[in-house]
Amino acid sequence: MVKICCIGAGYVGGPSMAVMALKCPAIEVAVVDGSRPRIDAWNSDRLPVLEPGLDAVVRACRGRNLTFSADVDRHVADADIVFVSVNTPTKARGLGAGRAPDLAYWESAARVVAAAASRSRPGTGKIVVEKSAVPVRTAEAMERILQAHVTGSGVGGGSFQVLSNPEFFSEGTAVRDLLCPDRVVIGGRDTDAGAVRALADVYAHWVPEDRIVTTGLRSAELTKLAASALLAQRVSSVNALSALCEATGADISDVARAVGSDGRVGCGMWFLDAGVGFGGPSLRRDVLSLAYACEGHGLHEAAEYWRQVVAVNEYQKGRFVRRVVASMLGTVAGKKVAVLGLVFKKGVRDTRESPAVDVCRGLLADGARVSVYDPVVGETQIRMDTAAVEVEVEVARDAYEAADGAHGLCVLTEWDEFRTLDYHRVFDGMMRPAFVFDGRNVVDAGELREIGFVVYAVGKPQDAWLNGMPAVA
Ligand code: UDX
Ligand code: ADP
Repeated sequence: MVKICCIGAGYVGGPSMAVMALKCPAIEVAVVDGSRPRIDAWNSDRLPVLEPGLDAVVRACRGRNLTFSADVDRHVADADIVFVSVNTPTKARGLGAGRAPDLAYWESAARVVAAAASRSRPGTGKIVVEKSAVPVRTAEAMERILQAHVTGSGVGGGSFQVLSNPEFFSEGTAVRDLLCPDRVVIGGRDTDAGAVRALADVYAHWVPEDRIVTTGLRSAELTKLAASALLAQRVSSVNALSALCEATGADISDVARAVGSDGRVGCGMWFLDAGVGFGGPSLRRDVLSLAYACEGHGLHEAAEYWRQVVAVNEYQKGRFVRRVVASMLGTVAGKKVAVLGLVFKKGVRDTRESPAVDVCRGLLADGARVSVYDPVVGETQIRMDTAAVEVEVEVARDAYEAADGAHGLCVLTEWDEFRTLDYHRVFDGMMRPAFVFDGRNVVDAGELREIGFVVYAVGKPQDAWLNGMPAVA
């Protein structure tokens, strides 16, 4: 029986291993984590990751061939295949701060694997699989760490092969994406063909062979960053166009639909929705990592190109805040502004890198009283996320409470319930003029204007009111 261990029971490791266990009942899968509370949560009825269908998958396998454990060393030592799926956030301080990925967690996991490998009997072997998003050549660094331990242990130690198998699922559709992936990428050296085959055989339990793409080690590592970068680049491109649409009176939805119908650009509107900017834990981190890698190789123009993808995203968020402020005669000081939606997209409970958080901070910094409502984010989380300035946000129980007495209402996540609010009731509770700033193009602007709102929608022809206001730099 093959034994698999995954270091890191996070957003990526948890769901991907649960699906693997579901589809491979003859394989024992242990997901381990240094955080005891995280493991306890995975062993409880309230999983730490909210994904449609995930509870059912975990219930079907937990206690059968899926284990969650804090005993990292034991499970790593027992495993034939060790996945490394730890967090690699952008560095907050030190060399490369704000640009380079922080590999501290990755290195500590590598050392755990190295220690286990050095204790293994000669003649035994492990396949080590890098799942985290990492810079190109990290697998080679992993090999060096493993080699140094095994050679230095003086007791022989087992052999190992390092592969790259990045993850591409989206939050909110993790289980669906994992069950039916567009592709599974497995990267390895030519000399590791056996290990690549062994990992491909695991996926072949449920993924058609023609969707299992094998590549070189470095190409697989780069594929992860490139995939994120191209997705982010599409969003920034359409957002940059949205600014010009607003300036010229064109409509970004029409432009995107017309452009997207060109098969060379993509399938319809896929990833061409203009909005307040992209968020989530991956896109920004991966684009910055890609830019940093370019820079490290002296490819300054290439680095600058990718950095602009992030810069346009920052611009889009800032532009939104400036629109809100400019519409209200250049100041929001003391005015209540409702924020509907804090998560980075609908269907998730995740506020990491959410543009809504930055918009809240921007409005607070300008003196607004910000009242936040999100259907899935609790008060403590809302306060933690927005706690960058001295003033705190107000937390509302529903959209109507958030909007009550407000001068403006910002829609920052595309939750369906924001499409179907009773906007007459919202209007009745708001100050005059009552503004709606739609950062996700979800409201029916025509209908809202008939009620009496002044409506700003990203990339759409603007109300006369908004055009008549002085610009805010
Ligand atoms: C992304 C990648 O899609 C996935 O392949 C990778 O494995 C992890 O990162 P995720 O972060 O879950 O997935 O979210 P995604 O659906 O890609 O959306 C990212 C952000 O872009 C969201 O804030 C979303 O609102 C925004 N977005 C997306 C747009 O603004 N417009 C679009 O057209 C698409
Ligand atoms: P991702 O979105 O990439 O899955 P998360 O932050 O959700 O990232 O999860 C990463 C997990 O990896 C965390 O639960 C963290 O505790 C765990 N982790 C990080 N380093 C180690 C390590 N050296 N050993 C065990 N677990 C680790």
